[in-house]
Amino acid sequence: MNGKLLTLKSANLLLAGYGALDQMGVEAKTLDIKKALMVTDQGILQSGIGEKVKAVLEANDVQVDLFDSVQSDPDIACCQACIDKAKSGVYDLIVGVGGGSPMDIAAITSVMCTNEGTIQDYFGVNLLKKPGIPTFLVATTSGTGAEVTPNAILTDTEAKLKKGIVSPFILPRAAVVDPMLTLSMPSRVTSFTGMDALTHAIESFTSMNATPLTDMYAREAIRLIGRSLRTAVARGDKLDARYDMSIGSLYAGISLANAGVGAVHALAYPLGGEFNVPHGIANGMLLPYVMEFNILGDIPKFAEVAALMGENVEGLSQVEQALCAVEAVKDLVDDIDMPKTLADIDIPKEALPRLAEASIDVTRLMNNNPRTVKTEDALQIFENAYGD
Ligand SMILES: [Fe+2]
Repeated sequence: MNGKLLTLKSANLLLAGYGALDQMGVEAKTLDIKKALMVTDQGILQSGIGEKVKAVLEANDVQVDLFDSVQSDPDIACCQACIDKAKSGVYDLIVGVGGGSPMDIAAITSVMCTNEGTIQDYFGVNLLKKPGIPTFLVATTSGTGAEVTPNAILTDTEAKLKKGIVSPFILPRAAVVDPMLTLSMPSRVTSFTGMDALTHAIESFTSMNATPLTDMYAREAIRLIGRSLRTAVARGDKLDARYDMSIGSLYAGISLANAGVGAVHALAYPLGGEFNVPHGIANGMLLPYVMEFNILGDIPKFAEVAALMGENVEGLSQVEQALCAVEAVKDLVDDIDMPKTLADIDIPKEALPRLAEASIDVTRLMNNNPRTVKTEDALQIFENAYGD
């Protein structure tokens, strides 16, 4: 629909590109920050990135304490330990450094220092009452977009579910996206976080809630990721490719935060929940098959995806271009050495009907999808992605 209201929510400040990390130090000084709690994980410490971030803050007269026990897919207990640490000191800044997990823990810690009650009280949409302590979120992968999304996810181990706190107060004071911090990312992580970012871009571009404003970010994200994901995987020290992936992932995150994602993410969630399939791998497997199904809901946009991904579409009809986009995504998954089918990762075929049922329940995302998805459609998509 034309004439949509244009709104954009994002970090208070975006610092992206070469020099972003140093600029973060300047920002800390401007805000007169005295003492920060840095929230990260063991991998980030071992890579030396933790030390770099700490040094930049210290060079700007910020004293830095460390919480370094963030797990991947962190649970409520892990987050509570970080909150306890934050409450035991007097901090005027929380700095999350890493992929989605440390950034989400930092964001929740920030708001739980100022809001009464327990983490569980705030699972849901817009339940937080007050802004938290200022946060800087420093991305070290190119995929999750957590540095610019107003939601933070935890695993509720008792309910065996992932739960989210969604609120504008989760957005950081500064999102820091410096490609130099992604150079040491292993190629496997580059592959699956990159596919997550591409999925954010394509799903938000074709979302029911896309606007011309989010489209600007989504288009550029698809172009940058389409052009550079292969190179970033094949040769992780190529700066130009890392730069494109960092900026592409950031733009995809901005588009996702404002337009939402759809059926790929809805189908990926139960795969992650029941079989612990990493989010980016699930997305990469499902994306081409969901796109194929969705084409009829928005032929012009899916046609445009092909050209944005660098395909030669001269002389093709719009439907042919849209189908070309599906093939382009399949080729990309092939080239970056990801598992391609549900069979490849040993998902039992009997599980597909129950996965399809569970995905339909993710109505928050299904409502954004450009084509209505019924349970039998979801099952067909899972069967197509199953391979044999
Ligand atoms: Fe995602």
